[in-house]
Amino acid sequence: MKPVYLEPGDEQILAGEQGETKQEMLEILVALGKVFGADRLVPITSAQVSGASYKTIGKYGLEWLEHLDARAVVPAVLNPIGMPRERWQEMGVQPGFAEKQNAVIAAYERLGIRLECTCTPYYLNPPKFKDHLAWSESSAVSYANSVIGARTNREGGPGALAAALIGKTPCYGLHLSKNRKPQVVIEVSGGVRSLSIAHYGALGYHAGRLVGNRIPLFLGIRPDPDGLKALGAAMAATGAVALYHVERVTPEARESDYDTSGLEKITVDRQEIDLLFSEMPVEAVAIGCPHCSPEELTTAEKLLYGKKVKIPFYIFAANEVINRNRTTVASIERSGARVYADTCMVVSPVMEQYTTIMVNSGKALAYVPGMCGAAARMGTIEECVEVATS
Ligand code: F3S
Repeated sequence: MKPVYLEPGDEQILAGEQGETKQEMLEILVALGKVFGADRLVPITSAQVSGASYKTIGKYGLEWLEHLDARAVVPAVLNPIGMPRERWQEMGVQPGFAEKQNAVIAAYERLGIRLECTCTPYYLNPPKFKDHLAWSESSAVSYANSVIGARTNREGGPGALAAALIGKTPCYGLHLSKNRKPQVVIEVSGGVRSLSIAHYGALGYHAGRLVGNRIPLFLGIRPDPDGLKALGAAMAATGAVALYHVERVTPEARESDYDTSGLEKITVDRQEIDLLFSEMPVEAVAIGCPHCSPEELTTAEKLLYGKKVKIPFYIFAANEVINRNRTTVASIERSGARVYADTCMVVSPVMEQYTTIMVNSGKALAYVPGMCGAAARMGTIEECVEVATS
């Protein structure tokens, strides 16, 4: 294993001069750097830390967090947790779970992590092109790398927390330009110029299975930012895609003239995407995977205006996005739908009460069966509203 070059200040941290927690955190970063062949650490502009839901980290994760004693030195937020911090009772979360979840939150707050629990940190503190980050959640990583052109590997919870407390991350993988080129080409054919967000999610669901962990370059599609978000989130769920390019759309594909000769070329037809949409009856609807953008909230508001939902209708978004769009959210909630912050249909235990859930997200389509024990039906947001209100 190559040594990881450390600056003099880092050597002091490693010697324990800034306390045990910082020493432990830097040891984690150096160990990761050695495993992945990093020759140095690179300063980051922000961190996003997973391992925030008590449903996923449990008792031992909480104990580990509680023994740490240091403060984040860069802006850092959390991944979604198992409940909305303010409205957990209304959502039906059990008090025993809420108590444990609040203990996890308190532990992170003590570490200087901002209590925004979202997979869309780019709506709160958008990174810049070529910024180095240490983000955890797979869809956020995909968006940062692909749509913004920032640079982050998919960090595990401890690695991202260590990066937040030290302000650096090991420089390997997607932090290096040479590792960001396309490795496979996906040509999408058959009338796909005006796909819905759900169809981009379905395309990502299908494409993720085809490409695995390779970096795809898409030809033949023109997604807007919400379509890109849906595409990348689903590919990160069914595959392990942390970066993709879309010809003439994403920043690095606009900047570079990639030589794709010699790369495998896969053709995906519109019909293969449509096959993922079904007609199954459902008990609940959940949208906002990844968390809704302001534009998606506005679309939901328009579709729900003057209607009443007849089955539970959940919408998930970042707390700050909800607060910035209070009027829109109030209008949505007049329909009986609920807009919750901090959590989502996959990490909240509340969703386990349903046997069938309708979603408009390729990522949720992939995760709801395993994480909630419910069958998932894919539909556009228009179809979700239609099913919930008729
Ligand atoms: Fe976000 Fe939860 Fe989906 S974390 S990407 S809303 S599974």
